[in-house]
Formats: sequence, structure tokens, C-alpha cells
Amino acid sequence: MGYVISIVNMKGGVGKTTVTVNLATCLAKDRGMRVLIVDLDTQINATLSLMAPLHFAQLRKENRTLKQLVNQVIQPTNRLIIPIQDIIQRNICKVNGLDLLPGDIELYNDFLLAALLYSKANNSQQDFEKSWNSLEDYLVRKILNPVINNYDWILLDFPPGDNLLTRSGIIASHFYLIPAKPEPLSVVGMGILEAHIKKLKTSDRTRINLLGIIFSSLGHASTMAAKVKNRVSADFGEGKVFNTEIPTNVAVAKAVDEFQPVVLTEPTSAGAKAFTELTKEFLQKFSNTLATMPPKTH
Ligand SMILES: Nc1ncnc2c1ncn2[C@@H]1O[C@H](COP(=O)(O)OP(=O)(O)O)[C@@H](O)[C@H]1O
Ligand SMILES: [Mg+2]
Repeated sequence: MGYVISIVNMKGGVGKTTVTVNLATCLAKDRGMRVLIVDLDTQINATLSLMAPLHFAQLRKENRTLKQLVNQVIQPTNRLIIPIQDIIQRNICKVNGLDLLPGDIELYNDFLLAALLYSKANNSQQDFEKSWNSLEDYLVRKILNPVINNYDWILLDFPPGDNLLTRSGIIASHFYLIPAKPEPLSVVGMGILEAHIKKLKTSDRTRINLLGIIFSSLGHASTMAAKVKNRVSADFGEGKVFNTEIPTNVAVAKAVDEFQPVVLTEPTSAGAKAFTELTKEFLQKFSNTLATMPPKTH
């Protein structure tokens, strides 16, 4: 069975999408693993980092995006059924084993969803909360279930902030990675995320485990960066901070314009080398974390 990994921070612009697409590409291309990227963000940055907008527009016209799958779970009575296997884009960027579940600029309508659940709950506030939580508990799980055995890794790219799909994605995951910038507000984002995860754990809705924190420097001054990293190491434990740091590198930003990750467009750039190193450390951290966990918890 594949491991589902959330790549998440409540803060935006901290490198979540860039880490997701490059880590996934390295795992498939250099390690021969089968990897699925799931774009849960309505900004569709992961999708557009891997395919041209025209290609995406065509898929959207054919209802071959995550929106269709969300709809099939929320409103199973709708007539059009498209299996996830027909929505996943295979060997994306011509990398064997690298697949993408394209996101959408609109995934569900909050108001309609709330009305639907409320009517199902016989207009009772308490039952409504129950059915809302239960939808969070199974939405992403149910979407991924038919293909989970086809992959070694399923990497979920999240929007910033907290919403139904974010909670559902976290609940469906075995592990999580926190991309961060070495600056104070990014640490606030981590704190908010930890509080959300703690709440889900307290009510026994997830057993997700932290694999580590990945810093992308993104132009931050080194004295401030060192301070922040020390604080994060103290809070989370030194072993939880990746030694590999992603440097600010123009090749990383330029790659987005070619709809491919930097590890494909400029494999010898500083950014690409860092992602190769990060992949090695990711696999090490994964084995170490697995070894310290009691059996049957993963
Ligand atoms: N190492 C890097 N060097 C240069 N630019 C980067 C690097 N990592 C990310 N970026 C750019 O910074 C912005 C935010 O990164 P992104 O991965 O989209 O963050 P998030 O998904 O957390 O919002 C994007 O424009 C991205 O291209
Ligand atoms: Mg993003």
C-alpha cells in the first residue's frame, strides 16, 4: 500500500508546491518509484507546474479534474461517473511513474454542501456537525482508495489555511512534511497547523506523524534565518529539521514557466541539486520514523 504524505503549512508562499513537485519527480525519476501528486489547492499551482494551461483547460472541459471526484463523493446521485483512473494524468512531464491528479479552480460550493448536509441531518445542529466531520473523515480517503495500491507515494499539495479538503487530506495521510521559510511568520503558520493536527488527534480522527520541516531560504537574511531554525529545532526536535535547505535559485522560478520541475529543466542548478539531496534525506527520515513507530500505527 502507498504512503500518503501531506505537504502542508497554514502559511502560503513557503515552498509547499515547489517541494511537492520536485520531491515527487526525484522519487519517480531517480528512484524508480510510483508517485501520485494530488493538487488540493484551487490555485492549481502544482497542476500548472506540470502541465500547460491549455492542456489543463481541455481536461477541465472534459470534467477530468479533482472537482469531478469530489462531486462524486458529495453527490453520488449525479449521473456522470468518471473513475479516478481516467482522471489521473500518467507519466507527467514524460517521467515514468510520475502521475498527477489535476486540481481545479473550484472544487465544491460551500453553501450548497452545507445545505445538503444540513437537510440530511434533519436540520439538527448536532447531527449536522457529525455528518460534516464524517465527510471530512472519508472524502479524500474515498477518492484515493481505488488507486492507493498502485503507488509507493501519494503526495498531497495543500492550499494555505484550513478548510474541509485540507482537514480531509490530513486525515487521509500517514505522514506530513512542513515546508517553511526561516522567518517568524512562517513559524506562526507551523504553530497553527500543529494546533489543528492536535485537535484532530485528540478526537482520534488522525494518527498522522511528522516526518520533518523543510526550509527554503527564499531570500531571507541569514542571521534571522539561523535564529528561526534554532527555535524550530528546539520546538520540534533537531532530528525533525531537514539538514538539506533549498536555496533561493532563479532556475526554480524559471522552471514554472516551462511547466516542469527544476530537477528536469536545469538538473545541475543549485536548486535541483538541493532537491536531489532532499529526496535522499526524505527517504532516510521516512525509514527512521517508521522504525521508531509501534507496529500497526502506520
Ligand atoms: N528555491 C526557490 N528559489 C526561487 N524561487 C522559489 C524557490 N522555491 C519556491 N520559489 C518560488 O516562490 C513562490 C512560492 O513558492 P510555492 O512553492 O508556490 O509556495 P507555496 O506552495 O507554499 O505557496 C513561487 O513563485 C515559487 O516559484
Ligand atoms: Mg502552493
